[in-house]
Amino acid sequence: MSKTVLMCPPTFFEVREAKNPHMGLAIDRVRAQHQWENVQRSLRDSGLKIELIDPVQGLDDMVFAANQVFVGGDLQVGKFIVPSRMRYPSRQKEVAFYVEWFRHRGYRVVELDLQGEYLEGHGDLLWHPDRSRIWAGFGFRSTRGGVEKFAAAMDKLGFPVTPLELIDKHCYHLDTCFCPLNGSAVLIYPEAFSPAAIGAIGNGFERIHHLTRDEAMQFIANGVVVNGRFVTPRLTANLTGILAGEGLAPVVVDTSEFEKSGGSVFCMKTFID
Ligand code: ARG
Repeated sequence: MSKTVLMCPPTFFEVREAKNPHMGLAIDRVRAQHQWENVQRSLRDSGLKIELIDPVQGLDDMVFAANQVFVGGDLQVGKFIVPSRMRYPSRQKEVAFYVEWFRHRGYRVVELDLQGEYLEGHGDLLWHPDRSRIWAGFGFRSTRGGVEKFAAAMDKLGFPVTPLELIDKHCYHLDTCFCPLNGSAVLIYPEAFSPAAIGAIGNGFERIHHLTRDEAMQFIANGVVVNGRFVTPRLTANLTGILAGEGLAPVVVDTSEFEKSGGSVFCMKTFID
């Protein structure tokens, strides 16, 4: 069970260019700071330890700590990161700061030769809860080729990767439409996936819980599962039923300022152990 997350304060958070269809409205930075503190508090109250990386002026999306590196490791291979190659040049600059943060703390850096392909960390690359495999979304941000190169590297370390093609531009990252609740159950917005991806998900989980389009657009798939809780930006009757059936207690936190940038709770942190 992961116990520590890395977060980045939203000091320089801004919406400058529309990198995804959710982006358009300007941010209220005072509200954003307040919401970010609440998210941090909810995660801490749920039993997580929080580490911070310093925000950098001019890096408007650095607050979305899920995207700059993939974090992995087990007792055999040790802790490692795979640096992302972000699709947007403005976000590529964030990666070096995160890589430095991890390098400084002893994580091995597994550099991929991505040759023009893109890979966006835990926006698209999600561990199965028992860490037996990695689910890898591609299509809008990470590319198929990027995921293939990542899969080849992970294969050598003993971690199988299952690619999942994304087909709805509003669900541009896997973490906007796919959220494992435990080793047997997953929350998905099914229309975001190609038929082959739906087949692969069906092979990986015993229980597939569906979200409606409306729920997906409200970032309900972008929740965080931690110690029997599900930290979510919203609660619907459908989600309440699903969580009850899986033995998870909902914790609701307002992330509306971050949703104007296309992200919610899951995007705002990365598990580091
Ligand atoms: N504005 C950011 C972008 O488009 C949002 C990233 C959200 N992160 C995530 N893991 N889905 O890159």
